[in-house]
Amino acid sequence: MPTISYNKASRLEFMRRCAAEGMVLLADDAKNLPFGYEKVAVFGRSQIDTIKGGTGSGFVYCRHTVSLLEGLRASRVNLYEPLASVYEEWVKANPKDDGAGSVWGSGEHSYPEMPLDNAVVKDAAENCEKAIIIISRISGENFDMRLKKGDHYLTDGEEAMISAVSACFKHIVLLVNTGAPIDLSCVDKYSIETVLYMGQAGEQTGAAVASILDGSVNPSGKCTQTWAVKYEDYPSPKGFFGKEVVYREGIYVGYRYFDSFGIQPRYPFGHGLSYTTFDIKTTAASVEKDVLSVTVCVKNTGSVAGKEVVELYSSSPERLLEKPYQELRAFHKTALLEPGESDEYTFRLPLSELASYSTELAAYILEHGRYIIRIGNSSRNTVPAVAIDFGSRDGYTVTRQCKNLLTPTKKFREIKKPESEPTFENCAFELSVSEKVIKKEVCKYTEKRVPEELKPKAGAGRLTLFDVKEGRATVEDVVAQMSDEELSRFANGHTESDDVPADDGKGLVVGASSRTVMGAAGETWSSDKYKMPTSVVADGPAGVRLNLHVKDSNELRYCSAFPIGMLLAGTWNEDIAWEMGRRISHELTKYGIDAILGPGINIVKNPLCGRSFEYFSEDPYLSGMICAAEVTGVQKSSSGNSGTYATIKHLAANSQENHRVGGNSVVSERTMREIYLKAFEIAVKKAQPRSIMTSYNRLNGVFTANEFELCSDIVRSEWGFKGFFMTDWGGLEDAALCMSAGNDIIMAGWKAWHIKQALDNGSLERSCVQRSVVNILKAVIKTNSFKKLYRSERK
Ligand code: BGC
Repeated sequence: MPTISYNKASRLEFMRRCAAEGMVLLADDAKNLPFGYEKVAVFGRSQIDTIKGGTGSGFVYCRHTVSLLEGLRASRVNLYEPLASVYEEWVKANPKDDGAGSVWGSGEHSYPEMPLDNAVVKDAAENCEKAIIIISRISGENFDMRLKKGDHYLTDGEEAMISAVSACFKHIVLLVNTGAPIDLSCVDKYSIETVLYMGQAGEQTGAAVASILDGSVNPSGKCTQTWAVKYEDYPSPKGFFGKEVVYREGIYVGYRYFDSFGIQPRYPFGHGLSYTTFDIKTTAASVEKDVLSVTVCVKNTGSVAGKEVVELYSSSPERLLEKPYQELRAFHKTALLEPGESDEYTFRLPLSELASYSTELAAYILEHGRYIIRIGNSSRNTVPAVAIDFGSRDGYTVTRQCKNLLTPTKKFREIKKPESEPTFENCAFELSVSEKVIKKEVCKYTEKRVPEELKPKAGAGRLTLFDVKEGRATVEDVVAQMSDEELSRFANGHTESDDVPADDGKGLVVGASSRTVMGAAGETWSSDKYKMPTSVVADGPAGVRLNLHVKDSNELRYCSAFPIGMLLAGTWNEDIAWEMGRRISHELTKYGIDAILGPGINIVKNPLCGRSFEYFSEDPYLSGMICAAEVTGVQKSSSGNSGTYATIKHLAANSQENHRVGGNSVVSERTMREIYLKAFEIAVKKAQPRSIMTSYNRLNGVFTANEFELCSDIVRSEWGFKGFFMTDWGGLEDAALCMSAGNDIIMAGWKAWHIKQALDNGSLERSCVQRSVVNILKAVIKTNSFKKLYRSERK
């Protein structure tokens, strides 16, 4: 495990490195970048009001955000200062509306642009060779983006600015400071040569983008979402949000749709340019038992050092099941390669990872036939490298037998891709694999709707978590002693309003309900009787979100604002995600907090989702791998357990903000398994996050928190999840159903009395609540809070 230094300089160095590595050079045929000695004029108010991240629970109070202008001034870019001064004066006189960019946002997604005086543009054009234009959007929790000017489309002010600048400048670099793809038809209309997705890169946004513009960093980020030529090209353009959304596009999300339906994207998934060039060759391929090995050699063939991402996609035969044209199965980010230097890497892929889910068979299957492995550096720039003839004759091999779960009650048809003639693709490597190599896994559904009740150990006296720590008891033994009232409380978060038996959520401040660390999102109950510490949880995901001000104190609590999820995943670099996790763990510990409510790994089904910025990608494999790396960073230190944990969220099919609470996502079982659950599955299997947050929405009519098939059958029995589930803050789920489903804690609280009532009237079994409290305490006993309590009382 590499050692990390947490001093100020190394923290800032990481913030810049991580931010710059996720930025994506989308277009630069004219090679305008990096800038040399030429003078550069910068247009757009966001050079000063640069957006660092999204709003809502994903907002982070950091000490200072480096704006684009500040970043450029500290860089080698030869900035045209007179224009910068014009903007500075105007912004001073026309400050941005604080509501829009504040923690809970206002629903407005852009700031008015400075009207451009022609004389100002002409003067800049006479003095500069190139222009930068920056466009920004603010998005966040509770509000989806709309198909209107200022949201997905440019405002009249922005359009006027681009029009005026392009009339005087031939060489324009457009910087896109948004949390998700927006309409970029201005690129065609005004022949803009260079486009850089700078995203919202946290507190060092301006410094990071400047490092790319002046060439001190060579861009190596890749798109995690497809940028469409026009909005209507996305698979779910109409009916993206609503009280009930039928996921008719099924498995065809993002590039799976564009590639299978022959729609040309503006910038494809996986795409991103560099200041150098790379040659990617597949040099070997073989199968040993059930593992495919593909070796690639990446050579820097250009004149500056750079990093490249090698992407491995597979195309599968389709007789029984329709399949997307291709799916991402693996990726590798190279080290920084000097000109002429090469990197050799071998992908090892269990063949079962190429399987698809058959609802009819309730199983993951590998159809017999020809699989093609494609290697390249974007979904639209690959070569067929390996052909695998799998299986001896027509048929299929089951890789994992499950049972039908989450079946929609509503009948609907998913879209079908157009018929196409099979083409024969020439591959450098041809392999033939017998179906006999596959070991079939049969899922055992061991979770019970009503488990056996735990009985107190006779004659053991009062047992506490200290006895568990010292090996005299199990967590189950401790929980067995708890009264119904205690269990009801402990299966809830602890908020101020819990002291009022009214249970009406009075005093509720969503996302700031902790009593111990003011301004953190919530906490669990403590009990001196059982030696249970309070365990505090905070948002997430782009850093620790705490209220800035502490009650009755002058202390201000600043935290590191990391890049948004989309940018972190845009690095395609698991080491960076891991380091971000380590740094978050460090800050949690500093503030006495045990858990981060993140990463958020919902699949970005449509770029209008208000929380697209928080999530990683339209692709479940990329999302799952980046998530697993970050979770490992949060939970593991060099000495083993870090004492902090991650809560991956929001399980699942929470694709919209407008009707997020109670909205119904109608999704087929196959689509759930292959798309919307897949990232969670990867994260659970690779990193065992200690907690999972269920979502506010319903899934096929049932609140996700109340869904036994989701929480218990799939996540626990099929995937082997060992942590605890928590609800999202103040959702509408039913407390008793929630406990029966295996959703362990209701956050941020307020429902203890519902649980107690359900126990009293027999609609909920005591054993279900015992199970939940056991799951919660098994995580709590691993926290720093427990360590601290134990040390202070046992020293
Ligand atoms: C959000 C969660 C967040 C929680 C606590 C909810 O409104 O959906 O993502 O973790 O608040 O702040």
